[in-house]
Amino acid sequence: MRIGPWTFPNRVFVAPMAGVTDRPYRQLCKRLGAGYAVSEMAASNPKLWHSVKTSRRLNHEGESTPIAVQIAGADPAMMAEAAVFNIQKGAHIIDINMGCPVKKVCNVASGSALLRHEALVAQILESVVSACRPYNVPVTLKTRTGWDAESRNALHIARLAQDIGIAALTLHGRTRADLYNGQAEYDTIKAVKQALSIPVIANGDIDSPEKARYVLDYTGADAVMIGRAAQGRPWIFREVAHYLDTGRHLSPPTFGELRSCLLEHLEDHYRFYGEYTGVRSARKHIGWYLAEQPDSAALLSHINQTESTQAQLAAVAHWFDLHAPDDFILSPATSESVPALAA
Ligand SMILES: Cc1cc2nc3c(=O)[nH]c(=O)nc-3n(C[C@H](O)[C@H](O)[C@H](O)COP(=O)(O)O)c2cc1C
Repeated sequence: MRIGPWTFPNRVFVAPMAGVTDRPYRQLCKRLGAGYAVSEMAASNPKLWHSVKTSRRLNHEGESTPIAVQIAGADPAMMAEAAVFNIQKGAHIIDINMGCPVKKVCNVASGSALLRHEALVAQILESVVSACRPYNVPVTLKTRTGWDAESRNALHIARLAQDIGIAALTLHGRTRADLYNGQAEYDTIKAVKQALSIPVIANGDIDSPEKARYVLDYTGADAVMIGRAAQGRPWIFREVAHYLDTGRHLSPPTFGELRSCLLEHLEDHYRFYGEYTGVRSARKHIGWYLAEQPDSAALLSHINQTESTQAQLAAVAHWFDLHAPDDFILSPATSESVPALAA
């Protein structure tokens, strides 16, 4: 599949997750098989561009191309300005967020709240697409299936987006009202894929190679995007890509690979965030990586108290030293249930 001039090594993408898919994590996911990564959403309000948080989100040094930056907001002119600002900072693809259910975003009628205001959606898309056109930068849209079950308007929004010149659409198979509850549904994604000629990326609850195969087959989507199942499991991308290519499972990483993956991730994370924020924001990643390992509870409670990156790294390394390489093996990514496709 292509987005504008860009092609991708595979069709297994990492989903943008604010506070998770920062530059170190995106680079790690790409190294471990993700075909494409979009940055965490960045505010379109220029007053926030120079805040520490937003400037970090806009830092793409050393990241492999294409650099895709996600912007969020509800003001068409401000969104266009934010798109151009990001292009000037190195973005090759601009992604518009109309999927985020978070109150902070929805209260100002951005994120998925926009799905209730179709005329405003059209204005935002038109404004951003025309601002990016002179730079030949494609604009993509990430959204949900609608505001709630009674107003599932993704098909209408998708057609509108394609007509305006959006280059690809990512669809999370839930409404805003669903938040993250229940199961993602793929019928709307299938209907949207059938109606559009631009690439459609399916998202929601894809957590194993089999589930990715099922969703691609069921919806006909061009690619899948994986979010929460990649937390603490960045190698899921190579596992899924390998399965899609060969129909066979790749072995999960060994305990030694888990060790080097986590320790290298932490070092990169600390370099990116610095001492104070680094030690705090790394805690969730360590928890995700080790949650599945027996005997990690004491370590996890300890690292939540550590106040220095050096002490945190040493504690994690020591925990690995205490265990023999063959003590644990990671279990493969599996889905609770993958429906069978009708023949
Ligand atoms: C912690 C977290 C942060 C997220 N941040 C963003 C974001 O910044 N932009 C966005 O479009 N979606 C965001 N999402 C939604 C994900 O991109 C994705 O659509 C959703 O998690 C469903 O995919 P999954 O079931 O594979 O996790 C976020 C999700 C989570 C869990």
